[in-house]
Amino acid sequence: MVLPPRELRLGGPSFADDDRFLKTAQDETRRLVTSLGLTSGSRVLDVGCGVGRLAIGILSEVGDIGGYWGVDVDERFVHWCRQYVEREHPKFRFIRLDVGNPRYNPSGEALVPGFRFPFPDQAFEIVYLYSVFSHMLEGDARLYLREFHRLLVSSGRLFFTAFAEDAVPAVTINPPGYRRPWSGPLHCVRYETGFLRSMVSESGLTIDRTEYATETDGQTAFYALKKS
Ligand SMILES: C[S@@+](CC[C@H](N)C(=O)[O-])C[C@H]1O[C@@H](n2cnc3c(N)ncnc32)[C@H](O)[C@@H]1O
Repeated sequence: MVLPPRELRLGGPSFADDDRFLKTAQDETRRLVTSLGLTSGSRVLDVGCGVGRLAIGILSEVGDIGGYWGVDVDERFVHWCRQYVEREHPKFRFIRLDVGNPRYNPSGEALVPGFRFPFPDQAFEIVYLYSVFSHMLEGDARLYLREFHRLLVSSGRLFFTAFAEDAVPAVTINPPGYRRPWSGPLHCVRYETGFLRSMVSESGLTIDRTEYATETDGQTAFYALKKS
């Protein structure tokens, strides 16, 4: 399996090492198998796929699945994934969305109510976002969550990571003194846990499990389910 060049990898210095990068990709796949019910028939939407870490893990651990779509706002990442993953594994497809994000795609278009991902209703069993809501503000995150409800099959699963704490303001950008120094636009978007839960619930999804601060830079893992 070809791994992405180090200069394109995300997630800090620990992902620069090839063995470590591949191990995190394989670990994420095991999470999908054990906690989200991934099988060889599943259709997975990986939003903010970056340089295809999850796709590389799935290919290494499970092989081809029912379908995989990786979506990202950064042209360079999607270009690499198409060239090195999609070309060899045509069931793994990648598209770029020109959605604005002050950190990753500052010149992209602002999300507006009515935004739709280019997929039909109930197209996926699993929607996955690793370290993406950690760089998105409430309004955009709400529009995405509403779409995930449309895109998931009944009882489909959503997994995401986010900075989430109790007894803090609803949303804080780059909170000083929190976990590590933050710099630049939306380096860290921290949510108050109850507020984030209500955002998820209002979109028709239910969080049924969390793992506090177990993920990159102390993000919490959230496992959710489409209510019906
Ligand atoms: C920290 S990286 C994580 C990449 C990947 N999920 C991983 O774990 O390796 C965040 C990714 O989210 C993407 N991103 C940011 N805002 C986005 C948005 N509104 N829609 C889709 N992707 C977005 C960025 O371009 C970047 O690739």
